[in-house]
Amino acid sequence: IRRKKKVVIDHERVASYAFCFDIDGVILRGPDTIPAAIEAMKLLNGENKYNIKVPSIFVTNGGGKPEAVRAQDLSKRLHCTITPEQIIQGHTPMKDLVGIYSNVLVVGGIGNVCRNVAESYGFKNVYTPLDVLKWNPAVSPYHDLSEEDKVAAKDVDFSKVSIDAILVFADSRNWAADQQIILELLLSKNGVMGTESKTYDEGPQIYFAHSDFIWATNYKLSRYGMGALQVSIAALYREHTGKELKVNRFGKPQKGTFKFANKVLTHWRQGVLDEHLKKLSISDPNALTEADILINDEGEEIINQNKLESYDDDDSSDDIKEPLAIVTKKDKITLELPPASTVYFVGDTPESDIRFANSHDASWHSILVKTGVYQEGTVPKYTPKHMCGNVLDAVNYAIEREH
Ligand code: G3P
Ligand code: MG
Repeated sequence: IRRKKKVVIDHERVASYAFCFDIDGVILRGPDTIPAAIEAMKLLNGENKYNIKVPSIFVTNGGGKPEAVRAQDLSKRLHCTITPEQIIQGHTPMKDLVGIYSNVLVVGGIGNVCRNVAESYGFKNVYTPLDVLKWNPAVSPYHDLSEEDKVAAKDVDFSKVSIDAILVFADSRNWAADQQIILELLLSKNGVMGTESKTYDEGPQIYFAHSDFIWATNYKLSRYGMGALQVSIAALYREHTGKELKVNRFGKPQKGTFKFANKVLTHWRQGVLDEHLKKLSISDPNALTEADILINDEGEEIINQNKLESYDDDDSSDDIKEPLAIVTKKDKITLELPPASTVYFVGDTPESDIRFANSHDASWHSILVKTGVYQEGTVPKYTPKHMCGNVLDAVNYAIEREH
């Protein structure tokens, strides 16, 4: 006799589409919060005329703090809860390098913050330029370590350490010293300070969290970013060696970051479903079998669908799309959310944001706002699918387009 368990899956009022936001120039300008962003978050959290919640994540090229700290800061500024899982910073995908390199030099940010972030990702031996300067202040003439720097720095003998990779995590706070150390290592034998390679191909790999040449702060004009440091280092390397520097890049518009963002988005959406199932006391959705009957809130059976399938709400009056999909493999049933139907990416920098959203997947819809790097009246190098004033206009545009 087939045991039948009745499980009711009612409609989660969660949109099938999603948002992805850039931070600097869209949500923030330097230390200031752009007021339209607070209103935009209210709309996403259900305060819209369709009474629907829209999933969202943040993809910034910025960094220099743990994702949890960034999430806390954004929650406070935007008057809503943003979780660390919703945040991708330029250096977040560098997690994937753990296990490949044992000794890394992490560049950028204040004091030990980036060291701590790298260690929290799982990197074992993390060094900073401050450690190098403490080891031998003559490495960078004209720069004296502050008392704070001396406390933050580790005691390390760099004549005995072989740096495997240089990871530029965040904006350099000291270009002169950082460039000197980075160049020395790139030109070294096996990443050991004080050595020189004759062939210039024995140094460590170098990775940048992003390549933004300029970025929007609370100053009138855009400021040079990590991409400018990258250009500068490559120029010095070329001048010194006559060769092109091989650089590994993360951040927008790189594909690796796009893949990472999609993974995060899928995970976030699956989390929404899991939460819902928990409310229905289904602790392990994978333990469901064909012996269980799933019905929707209209009493219809939604079992035995042999392919991944999403379906729309029958009652189209409020046009809510049911985000649930059911996959039946042999006698196993898995509940999944299909990928977001459209991801609206809101950014201010054509070269990184619009290029990022346009390059990798046709279901991403790029929106350029005028609160950051892009200046009204100019022609953006990469053409957005839509252009508007600020992030609130962007959210309104997307919600209206969907309903
Ligand atoms: O350093 C951060 C900056 O280059 C850009 O940040 O949020 O606009 O991607 P964001
Ligand atoms: Mg930006």
